[in-house]
Amino acid sequence: MSGDARKTAEGLSYLLGFGNEHTSEAVPGALPEGRNSPQRAPLGLYAEQLSGSAFTEPRSHNRRSWLYRIRPSAAHPAFTRMDNGALRTAPFTESVPDPNRLRWNPLPDPAPGTDFLAGLWTLGGNGDAAQRAGMAVHLYSANASMDRVLSDADGELLIVPEQGGLLLRTEFGLLHAEPGHVALIPRGVRFRVELLDATARGYVCENYGAPFQLPDLGPIGANGLANARDFQAPVAAYEDVEGPVEVVNKYCGNLWRATYGHSPLDVVAWHGNHVPYVYDLRRFNVIGTISYDHPDPSIFTVLTSPSDTPGLAGVDFVVFAPRWLVGEDTFRPPYFHRNVMSEYMGLIEGAYDAKAEGFVPGGGSLHNMMSAHGPDRETFDRASAAELRPQKIDDGLAFMFETRWPVTLTAHAAGADHLQHGYDDVWQGLERHFRPLH
Ligand SMILES: [Fe+2]
Repeated sequence: MSGDARKTAEGLSYLLGFGNEHTSEAVPGALPEGRNSPQRAPLGLYAEQLSGSAFTEPRSHNRRSWLYRIRPSAAHPAFTRMDNGALRTAPFTESVPDPNRLRWNPLPDPAPGTDFLAGLWTLGGNGDAAQRAGMAVHLYSANASMDRVLSDADGELLIVPEQGGLLLRTEFGLLHAEPGHVALIPRGVRFRVELLDATARGYVCENYGAPFQLPDLGPIGANGLANARDFQAPVAAYEDVEGPVEVVNKYCGNLWRATYGHSPLDVVAWHGNHVPYVYDLRRFNVIGTISYDHPDPSIFTVLTSPSDTPGLAGVDFVVFAPRWLVGEDTFRPPYFHRNVMSEYMGLIEGAYDAKAEGFVPGGGSLHNMMSAHGPDRETFDRASAAELRPQKIDDGLAFMFETRWPVTLTAHAAGADHLQHGYDDVWQGLERHFRPLH
């Protein structure tokens, strides 16, 4: 935590757009003109490409950036294994997939001196990181800034702060994320997390699969949901640091470290479309019914990681943002549901309109494939009897990681002290109302 870091965070400017070909240079003249890899790059920098897709993927999916840096990434000593802490990676084999509805309270407070990396705690996930398929759900709870640098070769990291602001120093520049924002670090990009408040807590979706993209809009038209221009990418900023820097590499499920002789956050200029970004969830253009029925929550999709099957996501990131409910003759909260997809939900602030209590900010719930879920009894009774005037839902910000495969828990999530007991009880007492006419 530092006042300087907050001042830096609040003074940042950004490049706007999603999937753009951006260019940025921290020093004028650092970007070569008209080519990527001149015989001698400007200002004595090294040119290096970072590929986020295979060279030959279709142009619409192709992601890469060119980085112009003080030293090439190749200039590092050997990595050696280190303890994985509470971080786990797919395939998840510590427990068997659980058909029960599960809900957790927030993580306990961490020990003093816990940084973002040490504070990562894996709840579970699916797929296989080495096959670049599936996802993991992590939570984090930290009370110290990192003085080391992290990169994740296994997937991109969608960070969802719930408490405490973050300053993310990345190879591409700096990002500021507060609760209510999300930040995305692409696969392999080095970064450091500095805290802007005494503590920081939140959620992380580690996406092993195809990079998140904006969902197609179909009949919604050319605008709506998350608008591309609201995504903010950093401008180039670099550290010119000579001296030991610990760099941690998450690689096929294990943490490896090496002590570099310089900071790898030394990119003076860059261009490309494979970039970190932040997005303010309150910018989400919420679309819903203006006649009757509750639309499927896919209408709230912010980002989607597509699979090879059209419309079937490896993982969707979905937000339940403030919105008006106006449906006539409609049960307005989310409906009772059994889903072939698996749903992990978290709460950033306030309350969620299908759960009157027990689902708290920093906690989470898991409704795995085909598990029956929906409003609790209190919510059902209230919504069934409510006078259906236009109603503003404005006291909560909840989200969902919705994934194609069941989420298998880590051993520490399945046995956690903060796993709630008796979650099934919220659906007890839903009374029989059936009255046959004859
Ligand atoms: Fe559901």
